[in-house]
Amino acid sequence: MSTDELVAEARAVAEGAYAPFSRFRVGAVIVAADGSRFSGANVENSAYGASICAEANAISSAAAAGVRKIDTVAVSCIDAAEPGYPCGNCRQLMNEFRVERVIVDGPGGPIEHTMEEILPYGFRLEPR
Ligand code: THU
Repeated sequence: MSTDELVAEARAVAEGAYAPFSRFRVGAVIVAADGSRFSGANVENSAYGASICAEANAISSAAAAGVRKIDTVAVSCIDAAEPGYPCGNCRQLMNEFRVERVIVDGPGGPIEHTMEEILPYGFRLEPR
């Protein structure tokens, strides 16, 4: 799947976001090392701190399906005027599954980053 196709899918996923408080809808698509894909949108909560980011939802779905290595994450914040970058917590979640490439949707088109670029010196324990 091309970068543009992944971003298009992330945009479509964002349409399903439950974001009545921020009005900021986010969609994320994951490509696992075996090529399988998972997606997630942000789901907010009246208790704001219980809200879940799009990337976290997508990563949780992938992990529950047995994925332990993720190659790519594509993110689209469809209500943003600027490219919407993953929050710090989501970068840490991505680091756990050794994400290599992060694609961020934006008005000027998709922007590609390595994980190292968006989370240098990331923390991870080796699973035992
Ligand atoms: N959000 C995400 O889904 N992913 C991020 O990486 C940053 C923020 C969501 C959380 C909340 O529902 C809304 O965007 C505004 O912060």
